[in-house]
Amino acid sequence: MQGKPDQRNARGLTTALAGVAVLLAPLGCAKQVQEIKVGEYSSLTGDKATFGISTHNGIQMALDELNAAGGIGGVQVRLITEDDQGKPEEAATAVQKLVSQDQVVAVLGEVASSNSLQGAPICQKNGVPMITPASTNEKVTQQGDYIFRVCFIDPFQGTVMAKFAAQSLNLKRVGILRDARSDYSIGLANSFKETFASLGGEISGDEAYQQGDVDFKGPLTALIATGPEALFVPGYYTEVGLIARQVRELGFTGPLLGGDGWDSPKLVEIGGEAMNGHYFSNHYTEQDPSPVIQGFIQKYKAKYNQVPDAMGALSYDAARVLFAALQQVQAASPEEWKGLLATGAAKPEARRAAMAALRDRIAATSSFPGVTGAITLDEQRNARKPAVVLSIKEGKYAFVEQIAP
Ligand code: PHE
Repeated sequence: MQGKPDQRNARGLTTALAGVAVLLAPLGCAKQVQEIKVGEYSSLTGDKATFGISTHNGIQMALDELNAAGGIGGVQVRLITEDDQGKPEEAATAVQKLVSQDQVVAVLGEVASSNSLQGAPICQKNGVPMITPASTNEKVTQQGDYIFRVCFIDPFQGTVMAKFAAQSLNLKRVGILRDARSDYSIGLANSFKETFASLGGEISGDEAYQQGDVDFKGPLTALIATGPEALFVPGYYTEVGLIARQVRELGFTGPLLGGDGWDSPKLVEIGGEAMNGHYFSNHYTEQDPSPVIQGFIQKYKAKYNQVPDAMGALSYDAARVLFAALQQVQAASPEEWKGLLATGAAKPEARRAAMAALRDRIAATSSFPGVTGAITLDEQRNARKPAVVLSIKEGKYAFVEQIAP
């Protein structure tokens, strides 16, 4: 059948345009570059900013190393970072954006447990694997089978500090000052309380403040009146620095005890002299002479001109656990690998299946050689790792002891 002349012309023009498009395509519209998109949500600003900045540094370092070595099967990984200002509501918004708009295939973050508790259900619902480098509250990984962490949990951390208080410091009476707006602080305070009591210790008083407070004299005065030998203050560095100053102003001379939330270069800056003589538990110590840790510290210092804190180390590990899992999908499941590629234009079902395969690889992480210790993820998607107790002397952290899980 012959078409009318005008129809033939139209067809000819279409064919010619299609030819041009075919010729132009390989010339590299950005769209044609294959990549894998990974999201990060962090507190890059706000009163927990050093957590986010260190996290970002660690992830970026792992990413640069990976991409410089050819990425994964020749495909580069691209990181999309969202600042949540350390606020739970913003964390939810950030993760929603990463998951629906950017269509990342995995999410790294957050540090503060209350923020991870906002992001995790969104990742779970969308079938996007999430690895938190540092959220220690038990509930975080209980949000579902797509939620992982590469650090220990607070029932362990609380036990570590309670044993340290009772057995190493020989304390009999300890008061607690908790942050009522932090799931982390509440959980850690409860674990400490339970273990310290089970070891024969007495909790003299249990008071609370709210994150963002600057005057702690009310609850501190009430606690001091209960006659404690020490105070357990499982908060974040901004408030802990101020609490340390104010407790000394009130004449209390005993030690403060705390957890990983103290770890920040700002702690001693805020607390000054008043920070000396206290103890806290943490994930790693820069004083560990192991070549893995010292090698990492050297690389990190060369890149950022700073000694990495626990967050820098944990986020480096979290990113590398994710990259190893991506590498396994690439090597073993070509179909799923295609589903993870940002430009694969994968159908939603194919993407979901690919992220499920990635989830399975992360879940199988075993004896992964991390800077913060060997990482094996258990049935609850938590890592079992040792903790260290550090003291603060002359404005510096000093290693006191290491405690195995
Ligand atoms: N563990 C803290 C939380 O869950 C976060 C944290 C980890 C802070 C490590 C500092 C260092 O909220």
